[in-house]
Amino acid sequence: MRTPHLVDDIAEVLVSEDQLRHKVAELGARLSADYASRPLTLVSVLKGSLPFMADLMRAITIPLTLDLMEVSSYGGAVTQTSGLVRILKDLSASIEGKDVVIVEDIIDTGLTLNYLMRYLRGKNPQSLKICALLDKPARRLVDIDIDYRGFSIPDRFVIGYGLDYAEFYRNLPFIGVLRPEVYGAS
Ligand code: PRP
Repeated sequence: MRTPHLVDDIAEVLVSEDQLRHKVAELGARLSADYASRPLTLVSVLKGSLPFMADLMRAITIPLTLDLMEVSSYGGAVTQTSGLVRILKDLSASIEGKDVVIVEDIIDTGLTLNYLMRYLRGKNPQSLKICALLDKPARRLVDIDIDYRGFSIPDRFVIGYGLDYAEFYRNLPFIGVLRPEVYGAS
């Protein structure tokens, strides 16, 4: 892969920093209201959800605990989902009896969350909901009920704010569209 360029490789900004800030504040307020009477456990799915999680947790004004999982559905620079989900890092603590919200950066085919929901339900939480920043419904292979959704986006190759191509571009502060020639699809 050639050296990534954080400006030249971006075709357009799909979701700006300002739009992200407003949406995260809105989601944080909803979660704060919905879980006002019970402690909330956020389970962040690394690596893509890292910036979203960091901003979202600070937009939540009620007590919460945090756990991290890392799963992988895509291998290296492959842009199509394989349907294979691997747990690279598991929960650190039990979620039995807890009110859990999974925090994801993007739902694409839905295969990752479909697997994770089944896996986490097996650990007997009191409740289990999904908060996803981006929803790409055009690519969905399995039905997923998204309880807290940020933006519904078209079927473009998006990077930034945690999302990567070949592990790069995660540090962009906005959601951008990658130029097709960068991933060899021009
Ligand atoms: C991305 C994203 C979701 C999953 C969504 O993770 O964070 O977990 O893909 O795709 P799906 O709906 O088609 O299953 P990825 O495996 O790329 O790992 P990363 O978060 O470390 O980038």
